[in-house]
Formats: sequence, C-alpha cells, structure tokens
Amino acid sequence: MRTYEEYRAMVEKELIPVLSTCGRIPDRLREAMEYSLKAGGKRLRPVLLLAACEAAGGRAEEAMPFACALEMIHTYSLIHDDLPAMDNDDLRRGKPTSHKVFGEAMAILAGDGLLNAATEVMASAALKMGDMRGIRALETVMRHAGVTGMIAGQTMDVTMEGETPREDLVSYIHAHKTADLLEAPMEAGLILGGAGKDAVDAGRRYGYHLGLAFQMTDDLLDVTGSAEMMGKNPGMDQNKMTWVALKGTDATERDAIEQVKCAKQALTELPWNIGFFSDLADSIVDRKQ
Ligand code: IPE
Ligand code: IPE
Ligand code: MG
Ligand code: MG
Ligand code: MG
Repeated sequence: MRTYEEYRAMVEKELIPVLSTCGRIPDRLREAMEYSLKAGGKRLRPVLLLAACEAAGGRAEEAMPFACALEMIHTYSLIHDDLPAMDNDDLRRGKPTSHKVFGEAMAILAGDGLLNAATEVMASAALKMGDMRGIRALETVMRHAGVTGMIAGQTMDVTMEGETPREDLVSYIHAHKTADLLEAPMEAGLILGGAGKDAVDAGRRYGYHLGLAFQMTDDLLDVTGSAEMMGKNPGMDQNKMTWVALKGTDATERDAIEQVKCAKQALTELPWNIGFFSDLADSIVDRKQ
C-alpha cells in the first residue's frame, strides 16, 4: 500500500494521457474535457480504487484505467451539476465552471464526452484482461454511476428542491448522488485485486458510510465554508434537501462522525491491513475542501 499523495500523483500523471487512447477528439471538445479534468480536485474516488485494488493484492497499474475512468465520470457529474439548469454554479475547483468558459452547449458535450470516454477506457481495459474481473469492474462502476445510482440521486436532488426535508428522502439523495460514487471504487478496486464476495461487500459498505459522512460534511461546508477554502461557492444549497436543512449543523456533525464509525466497522470485516482506509475515513469529517 502507498500513501494518499502517492496514489494521487499516479492518477494525476495518467488522467490526461488516458484520454488519448480514445483517439482523435475534436479540439474544442478535448479542450473542455481537459479543462475540468486538469482543474484538480481531491481525486478521492480514483485513489480509493487504486488503494482497494492493492489492498486485495492486485496491481495498481492494472486498475489505473478504471481509476481514471471513475474520475472522468465524477468530473462529468460536476460539470452537469454546475449547469444553470441544475445548481447554476460559477466556481468549481477554484476556477470558473465549464459553461462559464465554454458555453452551455460545450459544457453539456464535455460532460457527455467524459462519461462516454470513461466507458470506452474501461471497456478496452477489460477486453485486454484475460478473465472476468475487468467486465465486472466496468459493470459495477456504470451501475453506481447510473440510473439507479448517481443519476437517480441527482434526479431527487433537483426535483425535491424547495420541498420540506424528510429523512428518508435526504438519505436517498445522499446514498445515491454521493455514496454510490464512493462504493464504486471500493467494489471495483477489490474486484480487480481479486477479492472474494464477502470482502467486496464489506468494501461497498465502507464506501456507503464514507459517502454519507462525505455528503453530510459537504452540506456543512456549504453553510460554514468559504469559496477561498473550498474552491466552490458556499450557500448554494439554501433550497435543497440537505442534512443540515433536516437536522441543523450540530446534529449533522454528530451524524457524520457516526457514519465514520460505521465505515470503520465495515473495515473490520476485511482480512487485510486497513489502516489506509481507516485514516481516510477519519479525515473525511475534518476536511476543509
Ligand atoms: C464534490 O465532490 C461533489 C460531492 C459529491 C459533494 P468532491 O468534494 O470530491 O470534489 P473534488 O473532486 O474534490 O473537486
Ligand atoms: C453534487 O452534490 C453531487 C454530484 C455531482 C453527483 P452537490 O451539488 O452538493 O455538490 P457541490 O456542492 O456542487 O460540489
Ligand atoms: Mg447538486
Ligand atoms: Mg452543486
Ligand atoms: Mg454541495
């Protein structure tokens, strides 16, 4: 196992070259796709995928196309999330949002492009593998990103705007718009590393609780954070069904810590050294960006 920063550096190095494996992309489209990818971010999802693969005894190099693909999918979700028709945001990762720089049509296409390129990258990596791990990882990532996963969560997030928060609905929104894309790297990484069914399931549960803690903290930062600190505007969720709107800031802090405990509990079912994932879970509630 390596450190978070080591995994992150590996991802930074490969993210743009991986796009070239898709072939010749029209200049403006490629520019818009690269703009959002290069803007930075924590790279949490690909780091988790590489770490999960190595924890299970697999090779990070083999998992890299899947890690990059997941970051492409996450980045597309942010481009579309920021569009005027969705959250209407003008700052992301410390820079103007995609539609502010390239216009709405190109921002939509850059998002579409990142989603499709991600699938191409994973499919071609899966074809090169001599067994079923690649196709299983591909299926896992696309399901968590898909119409019962992240897209389902985003759908409830935008359609429930302005309604009185209800715990079952906020839980659904968090589970899908956010936790699904943290379950995906744990499951896919462990599958690629050759882990068995029970370990993959424990990894998924870790990702789920980590995701809830992550979104509760995101909702808190929307109230308490600053644009300088986070690289995105605070105060954007005033009408949204957030955990803070449901329970207030103090209870949200407590609930996030509780979710970290649940995440660490799931880790105890993994047979390997889980220090990396346990430390990461602790850091999620203290994050400032
Ligand atoms: C933002 O995700 C979207 C949410 C799920 C809250 P991140 O906070 O991981 O964004 P980046 O990748 O670091 O920019
Ligand atoms: C976005 O949630 C989640 C996805 C993009 C899937 P938010 O709308 O709360 O994320 P931020 O606060 O804009 O990063
Ligand atoms: Mg949103
Ligand atoms: Mg948003
Ligand atoms: Mg938010």
